[in-house]
Amino acid sequence: MDNFYSPEVMDHFINPRNVGELADANGIGEIGNAKCGDIMKMYIRVENGVIADVRFKTFGCGSAIASSSVATEMIKGKTIEQALALSNREVIEALGGLPAHKIHCSVLAEQSIRAAVADYYKRLGIDPEPIVGKVFTGEELESMHDA
Ligand code: FES
Repeated sequence: MDNFYSPEVMDHFINPRNVGELADANGIGEIGNAKCGDIMKMYIRVENGVIADVRFKTFGCGSAIASSSVATEMIKGKTIEQALALSNREVIEALGGLPAHKIHCSVLAEQSIRAAVADYYKRLGIDPEPIVGKVFTGEELESMHDA
């Protein structure tokens, strides 16, 4: 798939799932890509180690909106470990592919989930890095923009 959007991308872009804020979120992650300027904010509510609810707000391109929408569906009801294991490749597969120059949009979804889980652990007074690993910042994501 080169420059065309799959029906799945169009569906999630036109009719995104789980949009908005989560008033009772106990983890919030925000990731931006410095080059394209797009920002994704992920809200999660963790209950007993499970992502009980999730919402997102994405100020960005259609691929970023579709990536965050499908990613929320993929982690809702899953354990923290399963949510952390979600890769941008799986997001792309669930979307039926993304054009090469839009791959980085799916990375925003992967990393915003990691940032939200990191925030969840920080709020509990737990150092998230040994559990969550490194969360990429906007500047590091910049280098992935054309990857
Ligand atoms: Fe940068 Fe899609 S997130 S163009």
